[in-house]
Amino acid sequence: MPELEECSGYHYLRETAYERATIKTIQRPAIAQVSTFKKYPKAEKVELPRNWQLNEARITPLLQNRRSLRRYLMEPMKLEELAFTLWASQGVTAQSGSYSFRTAPSGGALYPVETYLSANFVQDLDPGLYHFDVENFSLDRLNKEDSGEAVAAACLNQKFMGQAAVSFLWSAVFRRCMTKYGNRGIRYVLLDAGHICQNILLAAEAIGCGGCPVAAFYDDEVNDLLQLDPAEESILYAAAVGKKPGSLAAQCSL
Ligand SMILES: Cc1cc2nc3c(=O)[nH]c(=O)nc-3n(C[C@H](O)[C@H](O)[C@H](O)COP(=O)(O)O)c2cc1C
Repeated sequence: MPELEECSGYHYLRETAYERATIKTIQRPAIAQVSTFKKYPKAEKVELPRNWQLNEARITPLLQNRRSLRRYLMEPMKLEELAFTLWASQGVTAQSGSYSFRTAPSGGALYPVETYLSANFVQDLDPGLYHFDVENFSLDRLNKEDSGEAVAAACLNQKFMGQAAVSFLWSAVFRRCMTKYGNRGIRYVLLDAGHICQNILLAAEAIGCGGCPVAAFYDDEVNDLLQLDPAEESILYAAAVGKKPGSLAAQCSL
């Protein structure tokens, strides 16, 4: 059986990692653009109702109002707000035999994604890097230093990552998924991370916060901050979350 490093899925992730020294010289294949909307001009159209009469009142504004937010109020998040967003991301919601099912789905219920966070401005929580212990619903403190600026620097100097109350960092323990699914498991890992991030963004919206997903980072700089061995576990995705100013339009920088 090939080891992880020999798998093409693993190679793909390493080959597409950003490095500070080489990011400006990356050669991208010249792939022609296509429209964002797929059209079937010859197909019969079925108009969809827009004024539905469903009991969906709670989720509609969250979906409608979620926007990537990169400027935040200078107001800390409460620890209970952070706890709620973490629960929304990966909290355990049911038990079945040895499986602990969570708020977000996971291919094969293998849960390869780990959550870390940089607490920048959270009441009753010292600033620094933490790991979310899903099983015990607790945080493991990883250092005792302010980590916001270092995280922002590792995320291609996107300053809002350090200005947000919290920046979440999601890694994958590839083996959890690849042992069962091989290279295809890489797909599932990436999809899992997407579910988790969207859960956090909607949960943030529900409590007057906003967030921005981030996939532009120097992979190994984030791995180093979190002391991850990229042969086993590597950064996949991130998001900043902070208090939402009342009427601020999303500031698009990427
Ligand atoms: C996979 C992914 C990666 C992203 N990475 C970044 C990023 O590194 N920096 C950033 O400012 N926004 C990032 N975004 C946010 C997108 O720019 C944003 O979702 C898009 O402009 C659509 O706007 P909306 O989220 O407000 O609907 C990312 C979004 C996704 C889904």
